[in-house]
Amino acid sequence: MHSLLSEQHQMIQSLARDVARDVLTKTAAHCDKTGEFPKTSIQKLSELGLMGISVPEKFGGSGMDHFSYVLALEEIAKVCASTAVIMSVNNSLVCEPLQLFGNDAQKEKYLTPLAKGEKLGCFCLSEPDAGSDAGSQKTTATQDVHHYLLNGTKNFITNGPQADTLIVFAKTDKTKGNKGISAFIVEKAWAGVEVGKVEKKMGIKGSGCSQILFSDVKVPKENVLGEVGQGFKIALRTLDGGRIGIGAQAVGIAQAALEAATQYAKEREQFGQVIGKFQAIQWLLADMATVTSAARLLVHRAAQVQDAGKKFTQEAAMAKLFASETAMRVTTDGIQIFGGYGYTKDYPVERFFRDAKITEIYEGTSEIQRLVIAAHLLQ
Ligand code: CAA
Repeated sequence: MHSLLSEQHQMIQSLARDVARDVLTKTAAHCDKTGEFPKTSIQKLSELGLMGISVPEKFGGSGMDHFSYVLALEEIAKVCASTAVIMSVNNSLVCEPLQLFGNDAQKEKYLTPLAKGEKLGCFCLSEPDAGSDAGSQKTTATQDVHHYLLNGTKNFITNGPQADTLIVFAKTDKTKGNKGISAFIVEKAWAGVEVGKVEKKMGIKGSGCSQILFSDVKVPKENVLGEVGQGFKIALRTLDGGRIGIGAQAVGIAQAALEAATQYAKEREQFGQVIGKFQAIQWLLADMATVTSAARLLVHRAAQVQDAGKKFTQEAAMAKLFASETAMRVTTDGIQIFGGYGYTKDYPVERFFRDAKITEIYEGTSEIQRLVIAAHLLQ
């Protein structure tokens, strides 16, 4: 396929492609097998400025646009989806809200080390009883003289076990529904913050995911992010950007399955010829390539609308919905092309399939994306 990317965009794409090839190919299968956090890979991404791609250089980032971010993320996800989500959460769900809603002091103290990759962040929104219905959360932040006292349990927190800096959403006024939710910057090291149950997952096994427990955590008032009561909107705005990132992750996984299946179709012989000569396989590959390209275009389009400074909620939801369902379809068909071998751990397609599934779930399920898209159509 021809590339219509600018020179700068081709540069960031190659940078990510090279580090994925040189570093992540060596660790992706190992992290999947052992559940080990890909520490050296994240260090390498940090050195290359990939943990805060769209953060201004003044605050330790690479000062690039969101289009650059999705180009890099796809390349990383193609080789290691676990590393990709760690990178995505730090960029989209932590650096982005700090950049958008933080004051200069907060940016100096928290954004700069996160964008440089010296610290890792996580986004604490979901709770055991508040998943898709994020507004129904029960974590509370009660105002004291100098502090808020934070109490509650957050669930399914990507980067939870490893993160240093947490963006936490909590009710500051239970009577006000969504408008009673505020956002806080919390340090893992503070008294009362604890990592709870660490999840054993189907895929993206190298990325840590856990509960985070808050028990009378004293959060200084200067650590309110944005305005008190603005937290739900901060969360939804943040997720708009995050969803484009997950779309890029899904495209990377789909591309990996497509390339593996294409190569296999050129080598595997049955009935006296390579299976790529059979039309049944050709049609599968053609469809896999077409939907993967379409998903990529939706992801690129959403990032470009974001970069243009326009509202991009609908574009982000469409990109995530289509890309994640594409990743599931393409990895399923990829296994089909490999036949029995695809169902074993001898080939990576079964990992791509397991890694793909979560993209239909986290940062808003496919059902939530359809609700968001429909709400925009009908408004
Ligand atoms: N940006 C900013 N503000 C927004 C917005 C957006 N994209 N979308 C809505 N809003 C505003 C609305 O304008 C509204 O404001 P007003 O009250 O002033 O009118 C307010 O937010 C509430 O909006 P809704 O009435 O539409 O909210 P809702 O309660 O009906 O919920 C929802 C909408 C789309 C279902 C939302 O709850 C949602 O997206 N749920 C899914 C949550 C989710 O994605 N969770 C994933 C957690 S992160 C994760 O996966 C973990 C990880 O670590 C990777």
